[in-house]
Amino acid sequence: MPLMRLIYASHPFGFDDLVLTHILKTAQRNNAAAGITGTLICREDLYLQLLEGERAEVEALYEKIKRDDRHADVTTLVQETSAQRLFPTWAMRHDPARSWMWTREDVSQGAVETATRDEVLAIFIRLVAEPPGPLSGTPRTCPFSGAKP
Ligand SMILES: Cc1cc2nc3c(=O)[nH]c(=O)nc-3n(C[C@H](O)[C@H](O)[C@H](O)COP(=O)(O)O)c2cc1C
Repeated sequence: MPLMRLIYASHPFGFDDLVLTHILKTAQRNNAAAGITGTLICREDLYLQLLEGERAEVEALYEKIKRDDRHADVTTLVQETSAQRLFPTWAMRHDPARSWMWTREDVSQGAVETATRDEVLAIFIRLVAEPPGPLSGTPRTCPFSGAKP
């Protein structure tokens, strides 16, 4: 069955460690049950999340996420089918924004929203090879067909 990959950006509202911990714990619990994997890149000025899984599951989750008042200006950046997951072992990985991503000035000037699909995807492809953030939870062991351990 084809997978859906969805990437969106948003602006955190009331961002702190406690809020982030709650979001990630809920995501890790719910996503494991729904067969969704991905990562959440975060900083005070930016959420950038990649969700991958069955289309119906990803779309249902995205509807909930768009209504969440812990962020605003949710903008879809990539929405496509994909043969393979980028983060098959992570129900929701935690990735603090890295210095090689956009600066705060870039973000405030709208660089994320105007980035191309390839530019956005390149960020996640590079992240796969980097160590995850401390709130990533426990990696799953090859839970989905086609996934590499
Ligand atoms: C930036 C951001 C990312 C989120 N990511 C997820 C996610 O991957 N999975 C999830 O279930 N909820 C996620 N949420 C939370 C949902 O918006 C919603 O609160 C949650 O799914 C409700 O779960 P519940 O019905 O178990 O309480 C996210 C919220 C925000 C603000």
